[in-house]
Amino acid sequence: MSALFEPISVGGATLSNRVVLAPLTRFRNDDDHAPNADLAPEYYAERAIVPGTLLIAEATDSSVALGGYANTPGLYSAGQVAAWKKVTDAVHAKGGVIFVQLWALGRVNPGNIVSRVISASTVQENPYPVPEEMSLDDIAAVESDFVAAAKNAIAAGFDGVEVHGAHGYLVDQFIQDVSNKRTDAYGGSVENRARFALEIVDKVAAAIGEDKTAIRLSPFSQFQSMKMDDPFPTFSYIVSTLEKTHPKLAYIHFVEPRVSGGSDRTAAANETTDVYHALWSGPWIAAGGFTPESAKAYADSHPNSLVAFGRAFIPNPDLVARIKEGLPLVPYDRDTFYTAKAKEGYLGYAFAPELKGKYY
Ligand code: FNR
Repeated sequence: MSALFEPISVGGATLSNRVVLAPLTRFRNDDDHAPNADLAPEYYAERAIVPGTLLIAEATDSSVALGGYANTPGLYSAGQVAAWKKVTDAVHAKGGVIFVQLWALGRVNPGNIVSRVISASTVQENPYPVPEEMSLDDIAAVESDFVAAAKNAIAAGFDGVEVHGAHGYLVDQFIQDVSNKRTDAYGGSVENRARFALEIVDKVAAAIGEDKTAIRLSPFSQFQSMKMDDPFPTFSYIVSTLEKTHPKLAYIHFVEPRVSGGSDRTAAANETTDVYHALWSGPWIAAGGFTPESAKAYADSHPNSLVAFGRAFIPNPDLVARIKEGLPLVPYDRDTFYTAKAKEGYLGYAFAPELKGKYY
């Protein structure tokens, strides 16, 4: 039996296995950014078919200003908290553990909801409309929004929050030199570019607990015009700083070089997340392009590790049980990944009949 099916402790919870639902934006939420009561509780709960599985809920707006896409969820209103509570209750009833990913769009905000598009800086190597460089007051306000959303996440019954530091959204825009051209304490040196991400982790951890706080990073992703020439100095600094300042974080989550956002990418021979994993002693999640076989091999060769699945978890709500029992996976259909508010491609994927009696 692979380490993938050995227990591991994450954020005070004991998981029965190391297969994780990766955060997946699906645009199935109501127009007021509350999870839909008829769709979301069932969608998440069925992915907790094996008790003791960790789910990371989709990227969630920390405030109106930090969102900008239609039909993403939020965690800034009482209605959203109540709607999320139905999701976390349904997952907990199955014995699942659920974190939520908190994001801020920054420069990729399409501007259709809030008129002000903010980013680390105005001068950027990217094809986006020129955003406004955030003032120090803006930075403090965004950090407060993350803290308020994290507190709301706990009120909504989540077991913890993952700060979205990946894929070219605001936190990543500060981290990487391709987007951060600031000349103040938040730009320039490695330490300065890391400051915003580390301050958010500090403040969220102080508000809800270090063991309920996590961060996701993607040094290799080219999605949304990202990727530094040499990510190692920056990302190794972030991990080794967290190892010193927050060794009890729930986990650190890294995206593998073979994916960019939600698509495959060809990794260069010298690109690996192992150099970052080596700097961190707590629970570690790797995501991106895993198969059942490669996930088992990864868990067996990387101490204290878990493996997140994204695309494969969409048509296989029973993915954890399928991997455990060696059953084939249903292929995914990209056409329905992002269909706003649709039940199609979201609910209705059947559990494998071979699992009946043992798992459902
Ligand atoms: C994603 N991904 C993603 N990542 C993230 O950090 N927050 C998010 O909300 C989303 N949303 C999202 C939606 C969809 C439909 C896809 C396909 C992907 C990336 C995802 O978490 C994961 O890292 C990638 O899909 C790579 O893993 P797989 O699919 O190869 O297992």
